[in-house]
Amino acid sequence: MAGRIPEEVVEEVRTSVNITDIVGQYVQLKKSGKNLFGLCPFHEERTPSFSVTEDKQIFHCFSCGRGGNVFKFIMEIENLDFPAAVTKVAELGNVSVDLSTYQAKPQRPVDPKREKLFALYSDATVLYHHILVNTDTGEAALAYATQRNLNTTLLDTFQIGFAPQQRDLLITFFKEKQTDFQLLRQSGLFIENDDGTLRDRFVGRLMFPIRDEQGRVIAFSGRILQVAENQPKYLNSPETDLFNKRDVLFNFDLAKSEIRKAKRVILFEGFMDVIAAFQAGVKNGVASMGTSLTNEQLYHLRRATDQLVVCYDGDAPGMKATNRVIELLKDDQRFNLSIVTLPEHLDPDEYVKKYGSEQFQNEVTNSLETAPAFRLHFLKQNRNLDNEQDKIAYINDALQELVLVPSAVERDVYLNQLSEELHVSYTALVQQLQQLLKKPRLSMIVYGHSNNQKKKWCPFTSNRCIS
Ligand code: UTP
Ligand code: MN
Repeated sequence: MAGRIPEEVVEEVRTSVNITDIVGQYVQLKKSGKNLFGLCPFHEERTPSFSVTEDKQIFHCFSCGRGGNVFKFIMEIENLDFPAAVTKVAELGNVSVDLSTYQAKPQRPVDPKREKLFALYSDATVLYHHILVNTDTGEAALAYATQRNLNTTLLDTFQIGFAPQQRDLLITFFKEKQTDFQLLRQSGLFIENDDGTLRDRFVGRLMFPIRDEQGRVIAFSGRILQVAENQPKYLNSPETDLFNKRDVLFNFDLAKSEIRKAKRVILFEGFMDVIAAFQAGVKNGVASMGTSLTNEQLYHLRRATDQLVVCYDGDAPGMKATNRVIELLKDDQRFNLSIVTLPEHLDPDEYVKKYGSEQFQNEVTNSLETAPAFRLHFLKQNRNLDNEQDKIAYINDALQELVLVPSAVERDVYLNQLSEELHVSYTALVQQLQQLLKKPRLSMIVYGHSNNQKKKWCPFTSNRCIS
């Protein structure tokens, strides 16, 4: 039977853990004086007002006023009652006490409709997965999955499934379970016929469940087995009460602890890239699910780390999208950005297939470029540097880019590279850059690092930053 956890057991848990270790699993903390600081996980903010005082084993947010001990933190962030929070802290801190007799239940009332939708998605996931791995109907899809190196472990880990050709498979399944019609309508799993009846939305597609931060399936993306002209390659669930595409990163639930361990996140475009990277041992990967990374997605990432590695497809659209991420983060100093550009226009999935896991790991660890280096690389695309006109245009663009680099040392590195690569005199490049640097640029925002301050280019001196 459930009951109160004895005071001495609570104390044992409290004194066996260090609040910084527990909070550190949710918030990236940095030491500053006596305290540790980070971005408050309870509201959106850009400068850290959340502090942890190790001496006193307490946390406090100077902005929202929340504070307390380690149990209070876990109650708030995990939405648990006190006994459940004690259990969770014991778990996170590897404290060996048996708390199984004390009941844990969610503190806030759950939204019954959302819970039903979660259950619906969970049932659909199990059904689609079963069809793929255990039935004749799934045979061709399983062969396709196998050919794409999706082995049994991966199919299980990512709960991949198959929605067969029959238009009424899922609807029949839920009708037999007597699931509420309105709930089915709102789930996004069906399309409404003219006569008001429902038919399955996903037909003949390999199904990738999209999970929320807690690992619950909230949507699907279905890949067509054979790309056809008039059909999207990936068909996604529409927006529902559970799913807002802008706000979700594929695989964030599984990657979260790996991101904290590795102290960085690798951002991919697609499902198959994340999964191939996972198989190659790179488990701190998430996908923006296409090339348009959103501010909402960045907000989630920032809770886990400030080191962002973008590894989009190595083709022109991928590079363009990377460029967009640089633009998006230019006036936003929350992240330290680095970039991997895979060779031969490959995407990560294709790269792993072609060059193997070890080389892929090497690419995402040792072939990192800074944002300006990528920009130089990007500006060179589609230009023939043997042609004088192209070469001069490139030099001009490149120097414009280098004006934005705040560090004189960093600028010098690029200038040397340019000089060597283009066979132009280093002195000439420096002279031209100095000209550009002299031009007043009021409050121009430049590349910087994540010290949570916007660095602005001083319009009057050439190489110093004001904030
Ligand atoms: P890509 O077109 O690069 O596909 O789209 P991919 O990841 O290489 O897929 P495979 O290897 O051909 O199976 C990248 C991501 O963009 C989203 C998906 O999340 C996809 O993984 N996307 C793409 C869509 O949502 N819809 C589409 O029609 C295409
Ligand atoms: Mn691919």
